Amino acid sequence: MTLASTSSNSPSASRLAAPPQALTEIVQSVLDHLGQLPGALMPVLHALQNQLGHVPKEAVPLIAEGLNLSSAEVHGVVSYYHHFRSEPAAQTVVQICRAEACQAMGSEALWAHACSAHAKAAAQGQVGFEAVYCLGLCASSPAMAVNGRVYARLTPARLDQILEASK
Ligand code: FES
Repeated sequence: MTLASTSSNSPSASRLAAPPQALTEIVQSVLDHLGQLPGALMPVLHALQNQLGHVPKEAVPLIAEGLNLSSAEVHGVVSYYHHFRSEPAAQTVVQICRAEACQAMGSEALWAHACSAHAKAAAQGQVGFEAVYCLGLCASSPAMAVNGRVYARLTPARLDQILEASK
């Protein structure tokens, strides 16, 4: 199965710039390894994000063509799951849990503090805040993860300390 630079099953595909050859080769390699699995879309998306740090918009029509799906289907999955990114991640990715147990313990105030106190760093791409819905630390909420490392029983001051130490 080979890939063209754009997908014929997407009405907007013809308006996309041709993806760089390197991206086309990476997508093709992932499809060669995983494309035959039942329900291959999720493993393909995970593999691409593991390699590239995100799933570039330009990869969507390539994946769609390789898996005989529409670009809308692939885009729908990428945009539905918070785990998948369409843009490169910030240097420090802070995932703050906003699910019920953490909300009950102040995660909304924590979120507001984080976005406000670290707005400059966020604007410069040094830190990015993402909402997640349960990190499995409900008994020690509120919780967050910083570049995959989890922290619990947070306060705004502790969040600031952790982010300062992660620079
Ligand atoms: S609800 Fe936040 S860790 Fe479970």
